[in-house]
Amino acid sequence: MYGNAFISPEEAKRMNEQVEDADKLAAFEDRITRGEKIEPGDWMPAEYRKQLIRMIEQHAHSEIVGALPEGTWITRAPNFRRKLALIAKVQDEIGHGQLLYSAAETLGKTREQMLNDLINGKSKYSNIFNYPAKTWADIAVIGFLVDGAAIVNQVINSKGSYGPYCRALERICYEESFHLKQGHDNVVYLATGTPHQRAMLQDALNRWYRPLLHFFGPSDKTSVHSEKLMKWKVKLASNDDMRNQFLDQYVPKILELGLTFPDPNLHKNDDGVWEFSDPNWDEFYEVIKGNGPCNAERIAVRKYAEEAGRWVRQALLNPSDKYVTPLA
Ligand code: COA
Repeated sequence: MYGNAFISPEEAKRMNEQVEDADKLAAFEDRITRGEKIEPGDWMPAEYRKQLIRMIEQHAHSEIVGALPEGTWITRAPNFRRKLALIAKVQDEIGHGQLLYSAAETLGKTREQMLNDLINGKSKYSNIFNYPAKTWADIAVIGFLVDGAAIVNQVINSKGSYGPYCRALERICYEESFHLKQGHDNVVYLATGTPHQRAMLQDALNRWYRPLLHFFGPSDKTSVHSEKLMKWKVKLASNDDMRNQFLDQYVPKILELGLTFPDPNLHKNDDGVWEFSDPNWDEFYEVIKGNGPCNAERIAVRKYAEEAGRWVRQALLNPSDKYVTPLA
């Protein structure tokens, strides 16, 4: 993408095996301190490469899996204008996956390996896409609050140290801001509609509240990777800071519509920090382990897409061969 140099898996392995002398590490960390971008062919510690692959790959999976709950509503959108906007949004999310897989590939893991790891459960993807979109109001809440949460996270990550990831995120954020507008329009429409529409919206909000708090990851006290990622400026804000920023921006917007959050303890304290009831972190860990309400369904759809599309990929690679299509 954008002319990024790609590192082959063999080259990445060779680079990882190089002795990490202290001088190289110090020079690398100096570059990061100066705010320089690290590019694919540059020297980097093996752990930096590993962490970036883990994070960008999870992000890419989240985009293509995240398109699934919304995709189920394309045929049921309430009118033609809403349907067009939803089709465009779902298409954008898949495109974001493409950009992010390309960014992760620059570090030496192939797209095929990443997709296999998604299907066989080795790689994670965002907790939030393992919940069902039961009504049209879920699409409104996803568009406004899930995309709003994603923007908070992605704008922060786009200022990070790895060039290909930051460039992909800048482009993604432009498109996400359109998603946010369609989500907001949808939320306002339902909030100012009939009592039934308002009730439907409130119900969706009640169901998405906890997954939204989980979205930014475990608290700073229990986060595993934050310290390292922040030191190397892959992440520029901690999980708790991102969560706080999200609540700061979106809680007032929901309250001003006369809606509520299902948590009597949600409030901003005198230090400007949002406090809330324990959002049940056991549920979060179960979901990211693969035991959420829709994990099996999401992976089954990706598996089907992988199998049904295999002949197309093979035909593109070897156009002269004969292929039996699933429809033949
Ligand atoms: N969904 C699924 N897994 C999550 C998660 C979430 N919302 N938040 C954290 N986790 C996982 C982490 O991947 C990690 O598991 P692993 O070691 O098996 O990879 C574990 O929980 C511990 O979390 P933590 O140490 O805090 O992870 P992190 O420092 O990578 O921070 C994010 C988590 C989501 C903030 C960070 O990875 C990030 O900014 N990712 C890129 C953006 C993205 O993926 N957005 C989602 C879709 S738009």
